[in-house]
Amino acid sequence: MSNWSHRHVLDLAAFSLEDFAIVLELAQRFRLMPVAGARKLPALQGRLMTSLFFEPSTRTRSSFELAAKRLSADVQSFAPSSSSLSKGESLLDTARTYVAMGADLLVVRHRCAGVPQGLAEDLDRAGARVAVLNAGDGLHSHPSQGLLDLFTLARHFSPQAPTPAALRGKRVVIVGDVLHSRVARSNLWALTACGAEVVLCGPPTLLPEAFAAFVAAPPPGQAADPVAVRGAVRIERSLEAALPGADAVMTLRLQKERMHEHLLTGLESYHAQFGLSRQRLALCGQPVPVLHPGPVNRGVEMTGELLDAPELSLVDEQVRNGIPVRMALLYLLAGGVTAA
Ligand code: NCD
Repeated sequence: MSNWSHRHVLDLAAFSLEDFAIVLELAQRFRLMPVAGARKLPALQGRLMTSLFFEPSTRTRSSFELAAKRLSADVQSFAPSSSSLSKGESLLDTARTYVAMGADLLVVRHRCAGVPQGLAEDLDRAGARVAVLNAGDGLHSHPSQGLLDLFTLARHFSPQAPTPAALRGKRVVIVGDVLHSRVARSNLWALTACGAEVVLCGPPTLLPEAFAAFVAAPPPGQAADPVAVRGAVRIERSLEAALPGADAVMTLRLQKERMHEHLLTGLESYHAQFGLSRQRLALCGQPVPVLHPGPVNRGVEMTGELLDAPELSLVDEQVRNGIPVRMALLYLLAGGVTAA
């Protein structure tokens, strides 16, 4: 892992093709571990991972905690509602408190974009030897989800060698509420880096035209794109136009909490136009897998029948793969902290 250079994992826009390859290779090793008979490794014994979740989570938090335990790290988690935040303590001071207790890895989720990065910069300036992992910040980024989606697709296309090359030339359709999705943004960086073509599909209110150029330039603050040639991004407004020729389809949670913004006429008409079903999927022209980051609104983004169809739905597989992918990230970052 000598070429791994990141002290923190904040955004996949900063990942080179080699970074993706390193994570996938390590994730595959961890994924095969139970087959080899060992469920737990001593790699991070004595290290402390603290999860700071300022926003709800079912999968991401449990998955990070389990990943840390599988590597024998100690795990501590912070509950914002019962903490001193309600007494006015700043976010940075809260994080510093956990660093003072010995945290080596801080896993941070916040509803505001940029919070994990801001914390990482402040902690670096303060000389804290801690790695920050972004577990989802606002609409901005969800790197571990993007990586587990990438790993799931790579394993699907190439079970024996799930490397970035498994994605080259594949067409992945992402359907739904792209505008409000940090998962879609992270997937755009990951998939195009590996040479996949991404077709985005949704109504203009949830998928503005500007997304066609999303990966065209590095994000603000990043000098250059670490990837020389990226796969193309295209927008289609109907599933009939988007699905033919697809190799995989990913659908995103429709954020019902945003319905007050009048971005849609209704859930039924959304399902009629953009909901996936076994019949709809047949438009791809071949049997293709469906992915969803969860939580799923059954009968909205996809039918319950499709979600439960073992030969087509990779949703449980995504959850399973989240653990080895997060083990890989924790392992790489904890290694980086020792080396520093
Ligand atoms: C997503 C998230 O919170 O960004 N879920 C997840 O982490 N698997 C997607 C969502 O909430 O829609």
